Amino acid sequence: MVDLLVEKIIDKKELRGVSEEFAKKEVIAWLDKHPQVKQEYEQDPERFFKKKNFQQLRSDVREHLRRVYGVFFTNKYPAKREGYLAALIDEPSKENALELMSIHRSTHERLEHYPSLYEQLFAITGTPTSILDIGCGYNPFSYPFLGCTPAYHSADIACEDLKLIGEFHDSLKIENSQHCVDLTTPEIMKSLPETDVVFAFKVFDSLEEKEWGRVKALLTDMKAKWLVASFPTLSIGQKKTISPREWFERLVTDKVVGRVTLANEQFIIITLKQK
Ligand SMILES: C[S@@+](CC[C@H](N)C(=O)[O-])C[C@H]1O[C@@H](n2cnc3c(N)ncnc32)[C@H](O)[C@@H]1O
Repeated sequence: MVDLLVEKIIDKKELRGVSEEFAKKEVIAWLDKHPQVKQEYEQDPERFFKKKNFQQLRSDVREHLRRVYGVFFTNKYPAKREGYLAALIDEPSKENALELMSIHRSTHERLEHYPSLYEQLFAITGTPTSILDIGCGYNPFSYPFLGCTPAYHSADIACEDLKLIGEFHDSLKIENSQHCVDLTTPEIMKSLPETDVVFAFKVFDSLEEKEWGRVKALLTDMKAKWLVASFPTLSIGQKKTISPREWFERLVTDKVVGRVTLANEQFIIITLKQK
């Protein structure tokens, strides 16, 4: 019954590719908070779509999805996506990777840093033989910059994008897997592959905002030797400075082995090995 509602809500270019399951959870959560509206919808779904309450529901859920998902795409998306991917598969060069990564806002913000980023991170962790990238966005397309050939496992709620990442990684003939998951699901880390390193770039803020304590639970279940977590230091639009995350620093005290600071993002390298 909720499916029709979800369909109407994600029927927008910028939200193409968002997981229907994830959107459905948001719609159900919204309806549970507004029982009278829920009743109104259940009584007469067709009429409900013409009502103000539907517009409110649609705008609240879209706004949430945009914040955790859609807002990250620049306006070149999705028109350019297929062409850039085909070019990258045809020739997996750094230039072609940068072109594709330029359409996702998160990777776009660090484009100029990719040539030196992994060298700095791996100087601390050592060269990994396997990586798990959670809330990966388009970062797995940065594979040509790694400077090594590890197995690469990608996890996100953006199921459509994960298929493209799979196509690219298959074409490189590396060990790879894609996992369309909601990282707010309890014990989700246990279902993901064990690797040397976990990347969690610019994803912890939104998970913690959604559910206090979520990141602590993820850290507890992580099976890797190292975690590299990153946080933006400037807001989207690059106008306001965002202060350090004290809540996160408290979680990883005594485990931080290094930091790499870019103009708009800080990477924190954490050892997960038992002392
Ligand atoms: C700010 S982007 C960062 C993308 C990438 N890590 C990077 O830095 O280039 C946040 C990513 O987390 C994903 N995400 C947000 N909430 C999620 C959730 N609950 N479960 C899984 N992925 C999620 C989004 O789809 C998006 O790709």
